[in-house]
Amino acid sequence: SMLKVDLSNVWGDLSLPDLLATEQEVFAAHKTLAEGRGPGNDFLGWLELPTFEETEELQRIRRAAERIRADSDVFVVVGIGGSYLGPRAAIELVKGQNHNLKDSDPQVFFAGNNLSTRAWQELCELLEGKDFSINIISKSGTTTEPAIATRALRWMLERKYGAEKAKKRIYVTTDPKHGALRQMATEEGYESFIIPPNVGGRYSVLTAVGLLPMAVAGIAPMDVMLGAARARKELDIRSFENPAWQYAAIRNLLYRRGKAIELLGCYEPSFRYFAGWWQQLFGESEGKDGKGLFPATVEFTADLHSLGQMIQQGQRNLFETIVRFAPPRKRTTIEVDWKNLDGLNYLEGKTLDFVEEQAFQGTLSAHVDGGVPNIVLQTDEVDADTLGELFYFFELSCGISAYMLGVNPFNQPGVEFYKKNMFHLLGKPGY
Ligand code: PA5
Repeated sequence: SMLKVDLSNVWGDLSLPDLLATEQEVFAAHKTLAEGRGPGNDFLGWLELPTFEETEELQRIRRAAERIRADSDVFVVVGIGGSYLGPRAAIELVKGQNHNLKDSDPQVFFAGNNLSTRAWQELCELLEGKDFSINIISKSGTTTEPAIATRALRWMLERKYGAEKAKKRIYVTTDPKHGALRQMATEEGYESFIIPPNVGGRYSVLTAVGLLPMAVAGIAPMDVMLGAARARKELDIRSFENPAWQYAAIRNLLYRRGKAIELLGCYEPSFRYFAGWWQQLFGESEGKDGKGLFPATVEFTADLHSLGQMIQQGQRNLFETIVRFAPPRKRTTIEVDWKNLDGLNYLEGKTLDFVEEQAFQGTLSAHVDGGVPNIVLQTDEVDADTLGELFYFFELSCGISAYMLGVNPFNQPGVEFYKKNMFHLLGKPGY
């Protein structure tokens, strides 16, 4: 089934004619993107990643994952930014936040996404006595955080298994030709996967970047790909029937009306890292030239007891985009309690998802009444197929939206500033 964008709760300052008036603009943005005629057009490889067939690269990913699942208790995924958030988003959404506590699949830990000594030492403790493999993900191959973690993890593997056996436990995902990591993989004989040169970090989740860690965690890459491939086909229509058009146009219109912040929310705790992936996608793609919606995230209902106050009555500079999944297949019912000391018997026999639905509806109208427009993205069951669909939907929407905003969605020049200062302070040659 296809994702639906429900716009019935955005109207207020905005009207349907306002939306329809952007048609030429959205059409032009989509066309520019699809024909590769806009800024950053050497980074459009992601448009064509979704496939209905299992490619050779996908087969290699599946086989590598089978080996890793057979010989490793733990899989350490090393990467940051676009080389990190996608796999983590996928695994947590489909397998749950507590996936590492289940015995059915190897544990997956993430490293190289910070410079915390405490986090590193904790990982070392967790790895003690465990059979593990590592996946180093870095397109440039030179990013400091993952490079430091990689050096240490390679040594740990060599000390534990010896140089030759360690090599069989190191998997590299990087550029096909360039960078220190490609050179390392070739020289040391590590199994390696490709991040195509025309796919930027935050658009790379449907390459080995996302797919190998997912496969190790027990998510079939082809299930994700099929959802994405269907989305690729269905989201190509050039009209307001296209959910990506609706989403891209509305968020730009709201931005132009002074709504400077977009809150992406969901009622599933396991959505947290998906929201993080979305935040990077839109933040790094649009936040430049003094422009861009600030992408923030909320987890409901938890944050209704936190940011809820601010959303309801704070500065009126935000709107919400709420992702709704289909009701759970297996339901949980609230039981009767004869004493009713908790006063909950009015819910006796009701399912938990019924209560959740009322929380969603109640929150929606409260926030809309409070002056916060709400976009509702209605999608399907929480599974690999829906995940693939969501990834492609947001990537395409982001490309269209950024072109409407008038920025290059595929660069991130601002990320270099902190690095320059840090390298100078660290005495890196050339800085
Ligand atoms: O989206 C991006 O391009 C960035 O967030 C990169 O993914 C991030 O900086 C990591 O880069 P690399 O994969 O080269 O280590």
